[in-house]
Amino acid sequence: MITPPSGRIRDSVSESTVIADPAVVAAPTVVADRVPARRTLAAWFFLLLTLASGTLLRYQWTGTVAPWFDSRYLLHAHSHVALLGWTFVAVFSLVFAAADPTEGPAPTGGRGSGAAAPGALRLLGEGLVFALILALFVAFLLEGYAFRSILLSTLHIGVTLGLMAGYMARARGGIDPGARPWIDASMLWLLLASVGPLLLSGGGRMGQGWIDAWVGYYLVLVFNGWLTFAVIGLLVGRGLLRSHSIVFGIMTLGVLPMVLPPLTAWIEIPLARRVGWIGALLFGSGLVMLGVGLLRDLASGAKRGPARPRAPAGLRAPERLRAPARGLLGSVAVALLALGVLGIIGTAPPLVPAVERTRMLVIGFIHLQLLGFVSAGLVLLLFPRSRGVAVWPFLLGSWAMILLLIGAGAVQLLGHPVRVPPQWVLAGTGLIALAGALLLPRIGAVPTGSSR
Ligand code: HEM
Repeated sequence: MITPPSGRIRDSVSESTVIADPAVVAAPTVVADRVPARRTLAAWFFLLLTLASGTLLRYQWTGTVAPWFDSRYLLHAHSHVALLGWTFVAVFSLVFAAADPTEGPAPTGGRGSGAAAPGALRLLGEGLVFALILALFVAFLLEGYAFRSILLSTLHIGVTLGLMAGYMARARGGIDPGARPWIDASMLWLLLASVGPLLLSGGGRMGQGWIDAWVGYYLVLVFNGWLTFAVIGLLVGRGLLRSHSIVFGIMTLGVLPMVLPPLTAWIEIPLARRVGWIGALLFGSGLVMLGVGLLRDLASGAKRGPARPRAPAGLRAPERLRAPARGLLGSVAVALLALGVLGIIGTAPPLVPAVERTRMLVIGFIHLQLLGFVSAGLVLLLFPRSRGVAVWPFLLGSWAMILLLIGAGAVQLLGHPVRVPPQWVLAGTGLIALAGALLLPRIGAVPTGSSR
């Protein structure tokens, strides 16, 4: 077994599992409760836009309807609101709530009993950021990559840099020590990623290869760097995932080599692919270790004795977590494991050309990461009390889509045709996930301490 990194964590954590230990789980506040409602609602709204635009895209691709929007533009709108809307607002809201005890209302006393009301300037700033993301979505939807959408995306990078500076300047001191390396590293990856879109602008002179290189660089750092490290850190901070210094070390070492293959694809340097694969091996091994550890913790937690009285409302140790929350954590665990294994196999240099040609496989892998792992983790952290009626359809639709894409992709990779009408089935799975997501926030009174 891999040992926890620091004595401090070891002290507060049971040897066998972090998540079953009430000393860790029974943190004084539930982070999600300290995310101001306006931010939770904004993140939720962008999640709904992500799911709705993805589902509409599949529906348009059935070819049986006159398209509502140009599908290329709709794809850009979907991917941008997914990353710059949903994941961006959710991650930064959760990071600031975890780092800064003065954020948002206190959980037990309800409204007004926590921090002072936010100033008008802060509210205005947040409103402008939310409006910027919405405008960005509409601009991509109506004109694809063009003057307005590029201008708004560049402004979004400015907002990102501002929030990162805010985190580095004052907020990070409050982060749980086990989570802090992950969150700090996630900010570093995001900073490095932000260089990509800025360098892209030289594409006019350098050609398409240059543009693709920096897009690839950006996506590797955002998916494998920023989002992965941030979600792991947030789960560690909540005592829901075990943190290991060795896992952190190998995953950190793995990230930068992985940017080499996309960066050099246009000048074909075979060595870059091999170095990239070493990165994928390190990174993927870390994911596998985290996934296996979490699955074991979930399995052992489920077998444990009666519920412990000190566990807080909302997120709990596995035996205290309600079934929907356990389902979301299970999704995170299975996705981590699958991402590690598929990432290592799929980036093996002899397989790369065939994998890259199989679009369904690539898209399936991306959604395994962004939906099965990142979104499930963020939903768990942001909506810890959501009911089964919301969570199960969300998970069912998401996983049906992921498995269909990866399954159909694997069939294509082996040289066989896919016979089911995948766009109809995929649109159906999207609709199920969307229906669940619509019910995620629990409207009405939420009795703190109640398990329902
Ligand atoms: C109901 C759920 C979803 C559906 C139905 C859906 C659907 C789609 C579709 C149809 C595509 C284009 C596939 C292609 O070009 O072949 C796509 C791409 C993409 N989706 Fe989703 N999606 C969903 C959820 C999400 C979520 C939650 C995220 C991120 C948090 C996300 C991020 C992306 C990204 C980044 C791409 C662009 C991939 C690329 O072009 O390389 N999607 N999605």
